[in-house]
Amino acid sequence: MKKNASTRIQGVCRVKGGSDIQDEILRLKEERHAIILAHNYQRAEVQDIADVVGDSLELARAAAGMDGNVIVFCGVDFMAETAAVLSPKKTVLLPAPDACCPMADMITADQLRLVKSRHPNAAVVCYVNTTAEVKAESDICCTSANAVAVVNSVPEKEIIFVPDRNLARYAVRFTKKTILPWEGYCLVHDRYTPAQVSFARRLHPNAIVLVHPECRPEVIDCADHVASTSGILKLVRTLPDKEFIIGTEVGILHRLTKESPEKTCYPLSPDAICVNMKKTDLVKVRNALVSMQPRVTVPAEIADRARGAIERMLAL
Ligand code: 13P
Ligand code: SF4
Repeated sequence: MKKNASTRIQGVCRVKGGSDIQDEILRLKEERHAIILAHNYQRAEVQDIADVVGDSLELARAAAGMDGNVIVFCGVDFMAETAAVLSPKKTVLLPAPDACCPMADMITADQLRLVKSRHPNAAVVCYVNTTAEVKAESDICCTSANAVAVVNSVPEKEIIFVPDRNLARYAVRFTKKTILPWEGYCLVHDRYTPAQVSFARRLHPNAIVLVHPECRPEVIDCADHVASTSGILKLVRTLPDKEFIIGTEVGILHRLTKESPEKTCYPLSPDAICVNMKKTDLVKVRNALVSMQPRVTVPAEIADRARGAIERMLAL
């Protein structure tokens, strides 16, 4: 279903008594026929002015399905690139142009081509946290919400999985296929340890531990549930338990508090901060809408090949 430019999907909209800059952004947004997409790790005030706040899969679906001329992507570069690939006729703005994902930069298209030449019968599954060039070399894309389903959907028995070794190892638990993981990792999630989980459980003995699949296998082994960021939001909303320990980037606590005020959520580590996700602020969003810069574009020959991998995932 096509959404118009002012649709609020996740029920996240301007806070009551919003500031002047929030009002200015909302006015500019209407004038430009823009939609604002924000990842669950964005600053609270940025989430509050977004049309859609979600995980990588929800934002990719929103970018593919929404009307409007302009997408303002409050996230990191690969997310804006994915939106540009899916909507080549739209203007895609990334208010913080230096907001990158270090994990996405841990593999290049040349490196992937070399691995493919060594495993000619393997399918390539790329995490959405990759450049468009790497997606263009891949058979199908996945996110943390659908990695297992994507791996099991391809006919090949052998899968080159890039770039997140931890997500690859998580998928191994749910498939009979042979997975060849690339050795990339998320700087935020890879730092959690089982000792942190034990410590948090001692502090909050009634809490349920929820972690992201970008965590190391030994941390996943200590958790009660493993889910994408929006999966974690859903678990907190729907489980009967009252207390949760949250093993993902702390920006998610804003939505958790807003959507489940009757529950108590403790961060597994208060230091789990993705500095790149925090580079976007309201001033940069306003400036992007005024200047219609910085724009993210992907060369057509790369976009055309990368689109296949993303659309195959969205069709699942
Ligand atoms: P999800 O929101 O898809 O779980 O992804 C987490 C992430 O690290 C995005 O960069
Ligand atoms: Fe990349 Fe990790 Fe930041 Fe997500 S949280 S953008 S995977 S560094």
